[in-house]
Amino acid sequence: MKQVIVYWSGTGNTEDIANKIKGDLGCDCFNVSNANVDDILSYDTIILGCPAMGAEELEEEEFKPFYDSLMAKAASKNIALFGSYGWGDGEWMRLWVSDVKGYGCNLLTDGLIVNGDSSAIVDSEYEAFINALK
Ligand SMILES: Cc1cc2nc3c(=O)[nH]c(=O)nc-3n(C[C@H](O)[C@H](O)[C@H](O)COP(=O)(O)O)c2cc1C
Repeated sequence: MKQVIVYWSGTGNTEDIANKIKGDLGCDCFNVSNANVDDILSYDTIILGCPAMGAEELEEEEFKPFYDSLMAKAASKNIALFGSYGWGDGEWMRLWVSDVKGYGCNLLTDGLIVNGDSSAIVDSEYEAFINALK
């Protein structure tokens, strides 16, 4: 199964998590600034990473426009979500999961949320995330 990661990261935490997932799955991985919607749609499983920004929102300059264009065509795709957050309680991920479900995609697993970089990953949550993608 062809898998790809597409992420946005301002200060490197989500990028750090993306690199860890990439290493464990052995899949392609793109910063959203280097990703093309139609190329990404050629993969069976799309793993999206974006930190909590704004007020519990996706990053709006680069990631959100890409995500909106992707989701308009992604109804048949397998999707997984991850990202880093700071002072919140993961609300941005709950909203994001619900948004993806609204597009009728096949969400493979709970969104993986990490309070900081990959050193803050909760092992059991990470294992469940990776296993759902294997
Ligand atoms: C402009 C801005 C808005 C943020 N909004 C939230 C938020 O709503 N909730 C939250 O938990 N963290 C928020 N954060 C914290 C980031 O999610 C956190 O620092 C995260 O690790 C950044 O990931 P990155 O290094 O991949 O950019 C915000 C950070 C910035 C810079």
